Parts: sequence; C-alpha cells; structure tokens
Amino acid sequence: MRALYPALADGNAYLDGAAGTQVPFSVIDAIAAAYRGGLGNLDGAFAASARSGAIVAGARAAVADLVGAVPDGVVFGPSATSLAYRIADALSRAWTPGDEIVVSRLDHDSNVRPWIQAAVRAGVTVKWAEVDLVTGELPAAQYAELIGPRTRLVAVTAASNVIGTIPDVPAIAGLAHAVGGLCYVDGVHATPHVPADITALGADFYTTSAYKWSGPHLAALAARPELLGTVWPDKLAPSSNAVPWRFERGTLPFADLAGVTAAVDHLAALAPSAPSASRRERVLASMAAVEAYEATLFARLAGGLARLDRVTLYGKAARRAPTAFFGVADVTPRTVAEHLAARGVNVWDGDNYAYELCTALGLEPDGAVRAGLVHYNDASDVDRLLEGVADLVK
Ligand SMILES: Cc1ncc(COP(=O)(O)O)c(C=O)c1O
Repeated sequence: MRALYPALADGNAYLDGAAGTQVPFSVIDAIAAAYRGGLGNLDGAFAASARSGAIVAGARAAVADLVGAVPDGVVFGPSATSLAYRIADALSRAWTPGDEIVVSRLDHDSNVRPWIQAAVRAGVTVKWAEVDLVTGELPAAQYAELIGPRTRLVAVTAASNVIGTIPDVPAIAGLAHAVGGLCYVDGVHATPHVPADITALGADFYTTSAYKWSGPHLAALAARPELLGTVWPDKLAPSSNAVPWRFERGTLPFADLAGVTAAVDHLAALAPSAPSASRRERVLASMAAVEAYEATLFARLAGGLARLDRVTLYGKAARRAPTAFFGVADVTPRTVAEHLAARGVNVWDGDNYAYELCTALGLEPDGAVRAGLVHYNDASDVDRLLEGVADLVK
C-alpha cells in the first residue's frame, strides 16, 4: 500500500499526517484525468459542463459514503475553518441575547473562534467544557451542567488534533438535543482514523477535510438536508437557493473534487470486502481495519516515548486517535522537530491551532511536538522517530 503513495518514495518518515496526508497515485491521476478530459462550469449546454456536474455529484456521494450522510447533505468548501465560519455566521442570525453556546477547550480553534465571534456579535453567552489536563479526557458529564434551556449550539471535536482524545460525542450531542440545541462536530482529525457515522455520533453538522485522508486540499460539511434547508447563508442573488448549493460560494474546484472521490475509493479498498458490498460498507470495514492497525502502531510509539527520560507525553485518554503530543525537557519543540527533520522524520511543532488546550497546558507559545500516525505509516517510521528522540535525550 505504501507503494501507492509516490511521495513516500523520498524515504522520509511522514509523521505529519495530522497536518495533511500524502496522496496516492489514484488521486493524482483522477485530478489529472479531470483536467485532461475537459471541464466546464456548471449548467452549460455542452458536455464538458456536464462532466463537471457529474464530478460534483460523484464527490457528494463519496463523502456521504465516508461519513454516513446523504449526498444532498454534503457541502464543499475550501477548508473546515471557512465552513465553520459560514455556518456560524448563518446560524447565529437566529440567536438572541441570553441564548447560550458551549465550546470546548479540547478543540482546534476552527471549532471555537468562529462560534465565539458569532456569539459576541449576537450577545450570546459562551460556556466552556474543560479538559482534564492529567488524563486529556473531555468528560461528557460536565455537559449536563453546561447545557440548559437556552443552549442553541454545542461545538465539539470528534478527536483532538494534538492529544488524540476521542470524546463521547453521542452523549454530548444527546444532551444538546434534549434541550433542542444543535451539535456541530469537528470531524477533521477523527475521519482518517475511525469509522465515521454522523447519525451514530448525533452530529447535526460534521466537518471533514479531504487533505487529512489522502485527498486534495478542500473540506466538506455533512448535515441532514432538511436541517440545511432551515439555514440561510449570505449568498449571491443569481446563485442557487437549493441545498446544498446555496452554502457553496462561487465555482467549485471540479478537478480536485474528482480527487475526493478517488480518495474515498482508495480508503474503501484498504481492507478486503465482499464483492457485493456497497462503498459505504467497504469504507466502514476499511476504517475499522485502519483503526486497529493504527492502534498497534500507536502503542509502539506511545510506549517508546514513555520509556525515554526527559520526554513528557501529553494526554492518556481511554479512546484516542493515534497522535502523540510530547515535549523534551530543556529543548524547544522547534529544535526537536529540526533534529528529527535532519534524520528524515517529519513532525510538527507548535500548538497546531489547539490553542485553548495548549494555553491550559501552559505550552503557549511554542506548543509541543506532534507525531501523527496514519494508515501508510509503519513500524520503521515509528522507530526512526524514537531513535531520533532517544539520541536527543541521551
Ligand atoms: C481537528 C481539526 N479541526 C480543524 C482543522 C482545520 O481544518 P482546515 O485546514 O480544513 O480548515 C484541523 C486542521 O489541522 C484539525 O486538525
């Protein structure tokens, strides 16, 4: 499978997947084929326009299969951040002073700041769900206190992009729904690591970025079409009023959307399935296999880091994505990352926009070092990282 990823041939250990994965040949080829075949803007009278329309429809169906949505509930945008701003702006028009929202200290700032800024504009109270800084858990029980009759929205991540914590989103969403509130789930970090099912999660909105799961640099928002039908974003007068189109601003990146479909097909083929299985069934089987494979690799990574003196590993949540966030005493995260880069190991340093969590952990402004595993990593990648860190602390 690693041979399907041309970038991996440079010999580096790509442990930066949490900030963006490499792409397989099939995705590159699908994007190139879309351009080679001739594209036109949508709704024209000619074949190239129809090809673009088919690509968009195909990509909506693919993302729907990836996350358990329906194609008409899939909105594309340039990034999860811009989609969050789009929805926060639209939803907050119905908020009135005295209403409340709940954000979490675990989240990437893209599922925090858009909501806070919208709340400030609407005179809405912001409540905070706190992380247990020892375990890295986001206890769901606290939401019973945070959520009340005026709660309009709860924004929570399906997985931390630094310490990996996978919170009990179904429980949190259930509490939001019990008072008529909505649950906006950031699925950007979770989607590449675990089977995604927006219904099981209780997510009213779920964002995912294709570039975190072997696709191109764009994002999608999944929601029930009926819910999207109740939300009106700012839009141009002649652009479509229909869902999901009215949430998409301007011309879509058609060729990249062909790459989105290819990326989902790539994921769906990672584990064997019965020939009669639907793509949704194949995605679920593959992502379960990915979760199991990554768990074994992560145990090697986390166990290896824990054995090293002067290394602090943050977070030990019961359920977590395979992402390690660690510091080395008396060495800045950037120096650690540079030391590893010199050994062909790509890791991130900084807060990775988990700004609230890093502030709470006292790690701002330098953050820590993040090594994120994805399905194309193997034990040799992990061992190179461990040897590089061991070399630094010896
Ligand atoms: C958990 C999480 N949420 C949101 C984002 C932002 O995604 P995008 O770059 O698509 O805005 C990231 C990106 O690193 C992330 O890891």
